[in-house]
Amino acid sequence: MKIIVINGPNLNMLGVREPEIYGKMTLEEMNEIIQKEAEPLGINLEFYQSNHEGDLIDVIQQCYHRIDGIIINPGAYSHYSYAIRDAISSVHIPTIEVHLSDISSREYFRRTSVIEDVAEKQISGKGIASYIEALHFLNTKLKL
Ligand code: DQA
Repeated sequence: MKIIVINGPNLNMLGVREPEIYGKMTLEEMNEIIQKEAEPLGINLEFYQSNHEGDLIDVIQQCYHRIDGIIINPGAYSHYSYAIRDAISSVHIPTIEVHLSDISSREYFRRTSVIEDVAEKQISGKGIASYIEALHFLNTKLKL
């Protein structure tokens, strides 16, 4: 089983970026923890981060016929990128939208996700546990 973990803009700045909201862990440290969680489940993980919408779309398209599940934190693109939404609906791959912070209780513009209804599930506000929960959800779903 192959799952990709995709992080969008500014998530490469984790550890430095607003630690009171996103915590002190870097993206590399977070990915290592997710990797350790995946190993006993026999899941083959890939990681990708980009600050560019088109690159994120290219990577989602390249998942077609290659990847079984997508975990994506689209960052601020979650709130307005119809192009990323369309890429997700194009590839027919179970996708979980994750957020470190609770987007429903922050600024008004963060309360809308244009990704939410093309994703299987949205998990928000649990820090790194959002990604871990997404991994277990996909593991259960894909093994059924
Ligand atoms: C985020 C929430 C977004 O609103 C923000 O733009 C991010 C991170 C999160 O993980 O909480 O970049 O997706």
